[in-house]
Amino acid sequence: MSRPRILVTTPIPEPGPSLLAAAADVTVLEASPSYPELVALCASGTYDVVLTQLRDRIDAGLLAQATVRGVSNFAVGYNNIDVAAATERGIMVGNTPGVLTDATADIAMLLILGTARRVVEADRMVREGRFHGWEPELMLGTDVSGRTLGLAGFGRIARATAKRALGFGMDVLFAPRPPGDRMVEDSELGEFAGKVRKVEWDDLVASSDFLSLHVPLTEDTRHLVDAGVLARMKPSAILVNTARGPVVDEVALVDALRSGRIAGAGLDVYEEEPRLAPRLAELPNTVLLPHIGSATVSVRAEMSRLSALNAIAMARGRVPDHAVNPTAWS
Ligand code: DGY
Repeated sequence: MSRPRILVTTPIPEPGPSLLAAAADVTVLEASPSYPELVALCASGTYDVVLTQLRDRIDAGLLAQATVRGVSNFAVGYNNIDVAAATERGIMVGNTPGVLTDATADIAMLLILGTARRVVEADRMVREGRFHGWEPELMLGTDVSGRTLGLAGFGRIARATAKRALGFGMDVLFAPRPPGDRMVEDSELGEFAGKVRKVEWDDLVASSDFLSLHVPLTEDTRHLVDAGVLARMKPSAILVNTARGPVVDEVALVDALRSGRIAGAGLDVYEEEPRLAPRLAELPNTVLLPHIGSATVSVRAEMSRLSALNAIAMARGRVPDHAVNPTAWS
């Protein structure tokens, strides 16, 4: 039997490359392909499966021409892939859930603390030689203990963030699936029953000192945080986004930060990555990270393993363990 052929669009860390090489003929591109290059590669008839990154746009146009039977995304999120179009074309999609929950929640907590305590400004002051010794009113920030953290969404990463925030003495509220609303039974709260409180999205917006976003990017959540929402937040509030950039209207956010309508923002993701909205980088009341929620050595290794195993399963004609659209081949 001939070995399956797998295309990897960007080099990934071990153990993925070794697992793939043992099971298939593998082509690894040196750097992310342009969209036309990716379309041509996926339509070339050369590959059974493509292992993609968030930067690879797998849209309906590409899928209409694709000859691959599977797309294995090196990420838990898959908003770069038109899953409905893939399903329609009988193309299976895989992702890497579970393994990056704690690392991403750590970054959410880091952004909460970093914005509250002005860590970027403080670091810059020291490096630029502007620290002249302890002063009673130097770099005063905001407490986190006793403050309200509002979680937009209550999935894995939101829950891991709640756990951390409770440890820091914060009051935790959540809206389960904004912008809509749904009932959540106490039994669904598990270890959080009695410790966190469900509120409606509008209440969450109005009552949070820190509003942290944990929703997938869908047509419903695009610009979930827009000028209207920013206007309803407390003027002292801080927005934290470790989810997806387009969940926030970034131009409206810059406006709100510049005019003092909200106090600060901690961002790991951007609306048009890697580009930032004009003037965002100039704002002192922000902590800006380069989409590193899952960036630890062990987490990226796990993502590599899961995405490789998904790709191998699909190349062998088996539904992978982490299929986003498991019925695609039926
Ligand atoms: C994901 O996996 O969706 C993250 O955004 C990148 O690790």
